[in-house]
Amino acid sequence: MTSHQPVTMTPRLERVFARGREFLGVEVPIMCGAMTWISESSLVSLMSNLGAFGCLAAGNMPPDEFAAEVERTQELTDRPFAANLITIAPNYMAHLEILCSAKLSHIVFAGSIPRRTEVEKAKASGAKVMCFASNPSIARRMIDYGADGLILEGSEAGGHIGHVSTAVLLQDVLFEFGPQVPIFVAGGIATGRMIGHLGLMGASGAQLGTRFVVADECSAHARFKEVFIKARSREAIATPQYSSKLPVVAVRALNNPAMDRFGKLQLELLGRLDAGELNRQDAQYEVEKYWVGSLREGAVDGNVERGSLMAGQSVGLVKRTQPLREILAELVTDADSALGEAEQRLQGQHATG
Ligand SMILES: Cc1cc2nc3c(=O)[nH]c(=O)nc-3n(C[C@H](O)[C@H](O)[C@H](O)COP(=O)(O)O)c2cc1C
Repeated sequence: MTSHQPVTMTPRLERVFARGREFLGVEVPIMCGAMTWISESSLVSLMSNLGAFGCLAAGNMPPDEFAAEVERTQELTDRPFAANLITIAPNYMAHLEILCSAKLSHIVFAGSIPRRTEVEKAKASGAKVMCFASNPSIARRMIDYGADGLILEGSEAGGHIGHVSTAVLLQDVLFEFGPQVPIFVAGGIATGRMIGHLGLMGASGAQLGTRFVVADECSAHARFKEVFIKARSREAIATPQYSSKLPVVAVRALNNPAMDRFGKLQLELLGRLDAGELNRQDAQYEVEKYWVGSLREGAVDGNVERGSLMAGQSVGLVKRTQPLREILAELVTDADSALGEAEQRLQGQHATG
């Protein structure tokens, strides 16, 4: 039987990640990023029960269903976890209300930029607020609005993405704003060694999505996981935007017919926009509706030909399915090895061979 004993860190990892541990209230400041259809109560609570940190995906769930999911997660764990709100989802305001009433310890705003009043409302409920920062100006604005922590997500990530890579954001968001607020780094991370080095750079922790999809306990369909195991990094491509008349947030996914169908949908919507048959906001809703439905087909139904296979470039580093505890333990062990190697290097003892 798989052990659900919490994972612990070594004293040197505890020192390097002290801020992230304190901020999240966990042993291991590794977050499983919210993933629509995938990050539900069982995965989220297991992540937290194992000493790390789970994020519930609100997506555009009917409010009653979302409230029930929050409650179920609270029943399954007494440890901290977050819920991730999509600010552009039609049910967003109802979701925010639910989280404030449920007195969640952490609320993550995703999708687009939340309003100042929304950040203030979340904080007034007692929650620590985390916002995504896909560039320095958004980071500055979110801190000004009162965000307690940031998630720096580079364009290598799976799902909806920004334009700038993790390597560049480390320099102009982590180095710049890290002294002000805890920053958790996401996008392209699948190994503990990387997490260890990010800690040395000043990250408070890391957020991973793609690597956790292949956890045995993750509810994603077996065929979806199988495709992840076989895929190479370069197959996780980002969608283009065809015209400034219809701004679309890029999505990174494995290349398959769902990507082609999205291209056709964009052209069709642009045609209808030109003909005055719908407005820009409605067209953008159509786009988001497409992705939610398409990801369901891939991740839940296992239709890997037709459905979306949202995945980050880190998919090439994902080699096998494993129990979640084993993944976390491996990440922690390897992060510690990275710190050990760095210590040796600082002492002039370069590893050879
Ligand atoms: C299948 C899938 C679905 C995702 N859905 C969401 C989502 O609903 N909300 C969100 O904020 N991020 C979403 N993400 C992004 C993850 O939370 C996380 O930030 C990202 O996967 C990190 O990069 P990585 O894939 O390189 O690990 C999704 C990612 C994947 C792979």
